[in-house]
Amino acid sequence: MDTKILGTTVDNIKEAADILRAGGIVAFPTETVYGIGAIAYDEAAVAKIYQAKGRPSDNPMIVHIGETSQVRDVVREVSGDAGKLMNRFWPGPLTLVMKKSYNVPDIVTGGLDTVAVRVPGNDIARKLLLYTSLPIAAPSANLSGKPSATSFSHVFHDLNGRVDAIIKADDSKLGIESTVVDMTGRTPTVLRPGMILPSQISDVLKSMVDVKCDTVDTESPLSPGLKYKHYSPKAKITIYKGPESLVKVKIDSDKKDLIQKGHRVGVMRFDESMLAFEVKNFFKRLREYDEMKVTHILAYTVNTNDELGFALMDRLLKASGYNIVEV
Ligand code: TXA
Ligand code: MG
Repeated sequence: MDTKILGTTVDNIKEAADILRAGGIVAFPTETVYGIGAIAYDEAAVAKIYQAKGRPSDNPMIVHIGETSQVRDVVREVSGDAGKLMNRFWPGPLTLVMKKSYNVPDIVTGGLDTVAVRVPGNDIARKLLLYTSLPIAAPSANLSGKPSATSFSHVFHDLNGRVDAIIKADDSKLGIESTVVDMTGRTPTVLRPGMILPSQISDVLKSMVDVKCDTVDTESPLSPGLKYKHYSPKAKITIYKGPESLVKVKIDSDKKDLIQKGHRVGVMRFDESMLAFEVKNFFKRLREYDEMKVTHILAYTVNTNDELGFALMDRLLKASGYNIVEV
């Protein structure tokens, strides 16, 4: 398939909307990561996304809407708490899981009776949604298993020839995917941490919020995306856990050994005083290691008492396939 590269003029975005309305799939920027979208009501188009990504079809997608009022088209009801979170955080990097309406085909939700919804906080994504005036189902715009795409070049690398068009825009502002919160139970539950922090959600709701993100490999994961291999660069990632000084000694010596054996080694260490920056660059760094043909990545842990550190650690753990060495 020929992939059309589109700019960000009004005409370009209208053309992207036309492609979507005609049943095509288009990669587009959001404030979190790039997404690959199809009209959510168009089952054949949604099926093309699974194919383009090489993604298992029971892994559900996020439905993007242009205005909060459109949420009524895709969910059965909006609880008081969900309404408060929408008012406070939409448009923005917060995805809410609610009971789906009959309009949303099973292929979007992987057969679940719930749907994940958000209003993205990026001008181009919003315009695209407004021009189509329909909800767009969109997972992140990377090949399945690969790090999420935070720049046009990542999207082009993974999806050129696999999608009808790519909107070429700036790098993603935030660099990690939206916070996913399940609103269907008694207590709102964070299924995927992100820039909207559990404490911020708690503050708005004035109640407790559960966080269930570490559950991997369970029989029936809450967030089905959790059971798949994620974010993996070509290199093997090892996370070193323990007192910082010991970790440093161990990483230095392992690095030396690996280099002696002819491997290419990258060391990932995160500056805790600039976590937003570290988060923004995380997926990009993983892809840069691929370009540099790095075979082993030795990573320091991130302090998970910091909520943003927790979100970063979540991505690092998944990228490593939970490969942790205790020092
Ligand atoms: O920031 C983002 O959320 C980006 C941009 C493009 O919006 N999208 C994104 O989509 O990260 P994706 O498909 O890579 O991740 C969607 C996550 C997965 O972990 C999936 O399991 C979860 O949301 N999810 C989707 N529908 C769900 C549902 N009904 N119940 C529980 N989790 C759900
Ligand atoms: Mg993804």
